[in-house]
Amino acid sequence: MKAVFAVLALAASAFAQGIAIFSPAAGQNITAGNGVEVVVQKPDSLTGSTDIGVAVLIQHCTQNPCEDVSQDLGTVFYAGAFTPTRQQGVADGQPAQQFFASVPQSFPKGPAVLSVPHSVLVGAGPNFVNEIVNVTINIS
Ligand SMILES: *[C@@H]1O[C@H](CO)[C@@H](O)[C@H](O)[C@H]1NC(C)=O
Ligand SMILES: *[C@@H]1O[C@H](CO)[C@@H](O)[C@H](O)[C@H]1NC(C)=O
Repeated sequence: MKAVFAVLALAASAFAQGIAIFSPAAGQNITAGNGVEVVVQKPDSLTGSTDIGVAVLIQHCTQNPCEDVSQDLGTVFYAGAFTPTRQQGVADGQPAQQFFASVPQSFPKGPAVLSVPHSVLVGAGPNFVNEIVNVTINIS
């Protein structure tokens, strides 16, 4: 039982490290061929953490609302280092990093899920944490 509580406590503290997709916004229209800037925000947190990396993927949905795509994340537009910095006028001044997803003209039109998987080492242990955040967009 003690072990279970310890794991829950770690999970709760790890959640404080969670990233967020600052943009695009939910429901935003993205024109295939133009692509989209993706701003990934890492809120300030009391616990020290070391980012391993993130990826940016987009999956076309076959249902509305979108089916769960967490086992089938779609096309990879970025995978690599995550080094969020504070930039004036970006992500409300929170540490963030911009990526560009160059969605091709041929990308299927309609609802799609933009996912950002994130790996991070949290705390003094440290504790290894993976998470996936997503936003539903529209490709036109
Ligand atoms: C996206 O486009 C659709 C159809 O053109 C429109 O109804 C909708 O309001 C647009 N959404 C946003 C967030 O601009
Ligand atoms: C988005 O992420 C949430 C939380 O991880 C998950 O429950 C949901 O299924 C995801 N949405 C899609 C469409 O994959």
